[in-house]
Amino acid sequence: MNPISIEKNMKVLIVGGGGREHVILDMISRSKHEPRLYAAPGNSGMEKLAKCVNISVMDFEGIRDYCLNEKIDFVIVSPDDPLSGGLVDVLEKAGLSCFGPRGNAAQIEGSKAFAKNFMKEEKIPTANFEIVENYEDAKAFVDGYKDEDFPLVVKVDGLALGKGVYICQDRKEAEEAINEIMLDKKFGESGNKIVFEEFLTGPEITLLCLTDGTRVYPLLSSMDHKTVYEGNKGPNTGGMGVVAPNPFFTKEVEEEVFEKIVNLTVLGMKRIGREFRGCLYVGLMATPKGVKVIEYNCRFGDPEAECILPLLESDLLEMMVDISNGELNYAP
Ligand code: AMP
Ligand code: GLY
Repeated sequence: MNPISIEKNMKVLIVGGGGREHVILDMISRSKHEPRLYAAPGNSGMEKLAKCVNISVMDFEGIRDYCLNEKIDFVIVSPDDPLSGGLVDVLEKAGLSCFGPRGNAAQIEGSKAFAKNFMKEEKIPTANFEIVENYEDAKAFVDGYKDEDFPLVVKVDGLALGKGVYICQDRKEAEEAINEIMLDKKFGESGNKIVFEEFLTGPEITLLCLTDGTRVYPLLSSMDHKTVYEGNKGPNTGGMGVVAPNPFFTKEVEEEVFEKIVNLTVLGMKRIGREFRGCLYVGLMATPKGVKVIEYNCRFGDPEAECILPLLESDLLEMMVDISNGELNYAP
């Protein structure tokens, strides 16, 4: 990472253009350092706070060249696609300072197979799983799954806009899922591997952790509401609403989560040479057998961030710069 000192009126560009990026921008705009703000591509709501430039989040060279020409001091890379694709690496190579993990650390979201193997290695509690890399193995796994063990969770390995998880009630549904993923290639390359998981039950908890790769500053716990229709019905979305703080995140749960999950994750990633600096999204389920990780994301959650960030009293820009410099020193 390229160390940076915070300056009055520094130029900050945020990559992304959704509600999450809008709230980050809003929080940054309140910084006492009065930054000059840019967004790529941003959206019409964000135009009130920032100069929006029409560059796609996946146009890495375009973003890099714009930042260099415009003499941007600090770039916040927000969405999962450019993070997993290594935008931070490209920008850092050009001498720019960024908030967000490098590509190798963002794989914690970019590949569920990587995340599951990592958890197994670090002994971080998560659902039992099996990874397959071709249709024949997927079919054999589904055929061999006992009737009494359903539901079976079928997950696309790569990024899938929150749509790559199937909760299959029976063998027929599981067969349809693997057909869609591996034969119809509904998710393209993201479906080259499938992760099968045991079905867990219990309330879900989202924990957004700001981290400089060693130290962790957790934000308020939350719970996002996923199903699309009234009455908790319908398919899952990326998240439609939020409750915060999460009523299931008790003091005991918090201690368990830090001891058995968050600290092991951050330190484990550092140890294997994938130091994670940014916002680590830890998606949890409080099961009858203890809290387990459902998923990691390499970024702020949406809509969670929209609910939680406005409650933050610290200067978010300062925190992000400190994280980028590996110097996060805030008592939670
Ligand atoms: P993910 O994208 O991995 O967070 O999964 C999306 C949603 O699917 C989660 O928020 C859970 O509601 C559900 N889910 C994922 N994995 C499991 C599992 N092993 N058991 C039960 N539900 C799950
Ligand atoms: N709300 C879930 C997510 O951001 O992945």
